[in-house]
Amino acid sequence: MRAVVTRTRGTLEVVETAIPAVGPDEVLVRVTAATINPVDLAIVGHGFGEGLAHLASTGLGWDLAGTVEEVGEQAAVRRPDLTPGTRVAAVHHGFDKPLGALAGFAVVPAEAVALVPDGLDDVPAASLPLNVLTAAQAVDLLDGTTAGTLLVTGAAGAVGGWALTFARERGWDVLGLARENDREFVEAQGARLVTGLDGLAGLEVDAVLDAATLPGAVDALRDGGTYVGVLPAFPLATDRDVIVTAVGVQADGERLTGLLRRAAGGELPVRVAATYGLDDVEKAIDVLRRGGVRGRVVVTM
Ligand SMILES: NC(=O)c1ccc[n+]([C@@H]2O[C@H](COP(=O)([O-])OP(=O)(O)OC[C@H]3O[C@@H](n4cnc5c(N)ncnc54)[C@H](OP(=O)(O)O)[C@@H]3O)[C@@H](O)[C@H]2O)c1
Repeated sequence: MRAVVTRTRGTLEVVETAIPAVGPDEVLVRVTAATINPVDLAIVGHGFGEGLAHLASTGLGWDLAGTVEEVGEQAAVRRPDLTPGTRVAAVHHGFDKPLGALAGFAVVPAEAVALVPDGLDDVPAASLPLNVLTAAQAVDLLDGTTAGTLLVTGAAGAVGGWALTFARERGWDVLGLARENDREFVEAQGARLVTGLDGLAGLEVDAVLDAATLPGAVDALRDGGTYVGVLPAFPLATDRDVIVTAVGVQADGERLTGLLRRAAGGELPVRVAATYGLDDVEKAIDVLRRGGVRGRVVVTM
């Protein structure tokens, strides 16, 4: 099979490699579509420093859609719903892994595997797992804070965009910080657009979900408010009297199945910015590098 890896800082390669063996608790997926995320850019740039040093070749890609090819022995007992040919999607977790989601086949833990409903094609299905789960789990981190006003930065991005919806559903009055061009999207998710921190005009919010890791976002908080970051490896340092936490996505096939159903039913926005074949994976990553992307860049296998 072919797979996308990085060996040298700043470059990626498509290599020929063996199909990975499936372990007892795992599922082998024939991948049809996988995405490029900011984390892949960071890994290609070796942005996680020493964390990536121990593998000579690191696989890229954190989410995928495809069909079940093979189910491990114990996985078959626990997940009788997964049989060869079943349409699935999953988060392919891990910074430093020999192979990722950007590959002809991928092995994922059975618990990570979600069912893709009819009505959601593989390309849109692949655009959801990592970021829709991150958004949901980031909003979970606000549960200890009484729902008042929440500022979401990066509100037109993948994590921020879905966070708008999930937070509104939990009763938050949501301010979405994004570009003026993103007004229609942000308002369609039931949030109010602010185009910069100065747009808050001194308003102190109860919580910040800082999907854009915006300098100064923590200062928008009232004393005692909650700050949720998206980079747990780089925790926010602040002398403010606030609660600081960060989301680290956990693969969760059951929850993802429900979210994919909601997406298929039109309850969650599905945005695919562009689709490339594997031969054009360099072009796909360049699109993300240039910035300003709305929706995920998908690579078909
Ligand atoms: N911890 C975890 O488990 C986890 C999981 C998934 C993602 N993440 C992280 O979460 C972050 C967001 O990911 P994503 O996929 O949502 O990225 P994304 O789709 O690129 O969204 C980021 C958004 O922030 C906007 N933005 C940045 N600076 C801005 C500014 N000054 N004013 C207004 N908007 C601004 C960008 O707009 P422009 O394009 O116009 O600049 C873009 O819309 C990344 O750092 C990613 O690595 C963490």
